[in-house]
Amino acid sequence: MEVIKTIKEMKEFSSQARRAGKTIAFVPTMGFFHDGHLSLMREGRRRCDLLIISLFVNPTQFGPNEDFKNYPRDFERDRKMAEEVGADVLFAPEASDMYPSNHQTIVRVEKVTQNLCGRSRPVHFQGVATVVLMLFEIVTPHAAIFGEKDYQQLVTIQQMVRDLHMRVEVVGMPTVREEDGLAMSSRNRYLLLEERKAALSLYRSLQKAKELLQKGERKAERILHEMKEIFQSEPLVKIDYVQICDAYSLQDVNQIEGDVVVALAAYLGKTRLIDNLIFHAL
Ligand code: PAF
Repeated sequence: MEVIKTIKEMKEFSSQARRAGKTIAFVPTMGFFHDGHLSLMREGRRRCDLLIISLFVNPTQFGPNEDFKNYPRDFERDRKMAEEVGADVLFAPEASDMYPSNHQTIVRVEKVTQNLCGRSRPVHFQGVATVVLMLFEIVTPHAAIFGEKDYQQLVTIQQMVRDLHMRVEVVGMPTVREEDGLAMSSRNRYLLLEERKAALSLYRSLQKAKELLQKGERKAERILHEMKEIFQSEPLVKIDYVQICDAYSLQDVNQIEGDVVVALAAYLGKTRLIDNLIFHAL
């Protein structure tokens, strides 16, 4: 596996690969890999001739009071894991290369970024869309793999790719969970023991929602009420939002029909976790 640190070299590599007729799968990441990342990488490996992984903790998607500075980083560990999964390139650019001092362009996807996480993280999705567009331009992938845990991110990227007639196929992969059900996240490592225990209530509430949906409940309000009861018994959990939305527009629904996402975000101490359930109502 090659480690590439400059945009120039990465562009040369991808141009050459394309000229040689190779297909490129791309997994953009902010590092500190866990099994969730590995499942995206394996899917990329399976789909294309070449697998390129980017590792870049993107400053523009963090708000001023968020965890950019403390975001977990361990390059050597990530490098080994990417190599073991069979990646061809680990692309780890510098922020000064990605955002030179005169950088002025941002990408804003409108409606799908307003609700859910967009409410409490107003600059987050424009930071994500901007960096992902730049990375697509540098890596020129045929397929790019994202996790469904960041469901609003996945929908935002899909919207951007459609709107800008981009040539990449965006692939979503199911959330990978710890044995007890907690969604894997690089941020789980911030959790203190008691917070880790309390965090399980996020998963429990989604399981409750699933059970109600499977029994035929179609009133969003009733499902949300039962979910909130679960959090009320956990004083360490501070809910940011729990919502049921149309799976494509991400607008709230009252009456559930078609594809919906039950999405939530919560703070455990300073750590903000998100999780969701995608449900196809018949
Ligand atoms: O999901 C992430 O890790 C990031 O938001 C991404 C897609 C790599 C953009 O920085």
